[in-house]
Amino acid sequence: KKVVLAYSGGLDTSIILKWLQTEYGCEVVTFTADLGQGEELEPAREKALMLGIKPENIHILDLREEFVRDFVFPMFRANALYEGMYLLGTSIARPLIAKYLAEIAAQTGADAVSHGATGKGNDQVRFELGVAALEPNLRVIAPWREWDLSSRTKLLEFAEQNQIPIAKNKRGEAPFSVDANLLHTSSEGRVLEDPGVEAPDYVASRIVAVEDAPDKPEFIEVTFERGDAVAIDGTPMSPATILTKLNELGAKHGIGMLDFVENRFVGMKSRGVYETPGGTILLEAHRGIEQITLDSGAGHLKDSIMPRYAELIYNGFWFSPERLMLQALIDASQEHVSGTVRLKLYKGVARTVARWSDHSLYSEAHVTFEEDAGAYDQKDAEGFIQLNALRLRLIAARNRRLKG
Ligand code: ARG
Ligand code: SIN
Repeated sequence: KKVVLAYSGGLDTSIILKWLQTEYGCEVVTFTADLGQGEELEPAREKALMLGIKPENIHILDLREEFVRDFVFPMFRANALYEGMYLLGTSIARPLIAKYLAEIAAQTGADAVSHGATGKGNDQVRFELGVAALEPNLRVIAPWREWDLSSRTKLLEFAEQNQIPIAKNKRGEAPFSVDANLLHTSSEGRVLEDPGVEAPDYVASRIVAVEDAPDKPEFIEVTFERGDAVAIDGTPMSPATILTKLNELGAKHGIGMLDFVENRFVGMKSRGVYETPGGTILLEAHRGIEQITLDSGAGHLKDSIMPRYAELIYNGFWFSPERLMLQALIDASQEHVSGTVRLKLYKGVARTVARWSDHSLYSEAHVTFEEDAGAYDQKDAEGFIQLNALRLRLIAARNRRLKG
């Protein structure tokens, strides 16, 4: 019996590792990914070795480029926001982890995978729907739904009994549950559980408080090709490098904080604090370039499917046929979404101040309030309005008639 565990190297997944060995008596293969969470991965290897994992069973991968290129950027082509606000930073990382759980299981001949998500949240659904779509016969072991280590105290006891090192600051109650990657850092739970109480300042782990942001604005230019950012200030960069750079800029200017109560797929509401500095700038910039390059029909159609697309990602259906169908529609809309956006970053806000493109549909000749040299005949508007008004007139006349 062999199981691939999504292993962070932290206390919870270390306990899960030990629990899989002792309760299930299975051989554990660990998978640890660098998604840009800003943590060293070598300690995870040492810890796994110490917990008795064979060196050949330890898989540590840098997935930052794949994460941004194949997951974050396709999602940003849609301007995806869940429930109008959330940039889906955790949701979009889960299918990538599921993909590698499935791949490593196939490679190593494992018959199961395991993760540290609780039985109450979205992440369990995302991991398991992803794995099901890619390796339909794999079993999933979700310790949080099975074991009787229901309290923090019991977990710490189990850790002590099994010689699992507990970092000093982990001994007490962790202030909240954090998930971080290149796109965002989310914080949930504990001090954040009452949505009627303001989140303490120390929850913010990567964005500077607006009050402490520079008093001088900073201007940047983001260049897009077919809907994807390809350069900052004229310098071409890889997807992960672009997001890293936008994160630095956003964090410095206090951009991308969100305090949000959302509807989890499993039915309950939950309150989270999200820090998405680079993503917030990227969304604004992408909308900025779409403004001049997207046709209105194409733009309004893609906007109308966006909430559905975002919900699919939130609910864990990245590998579903309907997500792929919507993606094909969104990608088709991006054919001419190329050009450059100039943004002003200042005190918590990223604002588009200029945009230009060889693919622009903007026609100053048509829109100008000055002499338009015959580009547009104002008389055409008369019939246009008459016919659009016809049904409104008929309704108004009917209503008047019925009123007496
Ligand atoms: N509520 C967010 C989401 O569902 C963030 C989840 C954070 N997950 C975590 N394991 N801390 O996408
Ligand atoms: C968890 O339950 O493991 C974290 C929160 C979530 O998945 O929504």
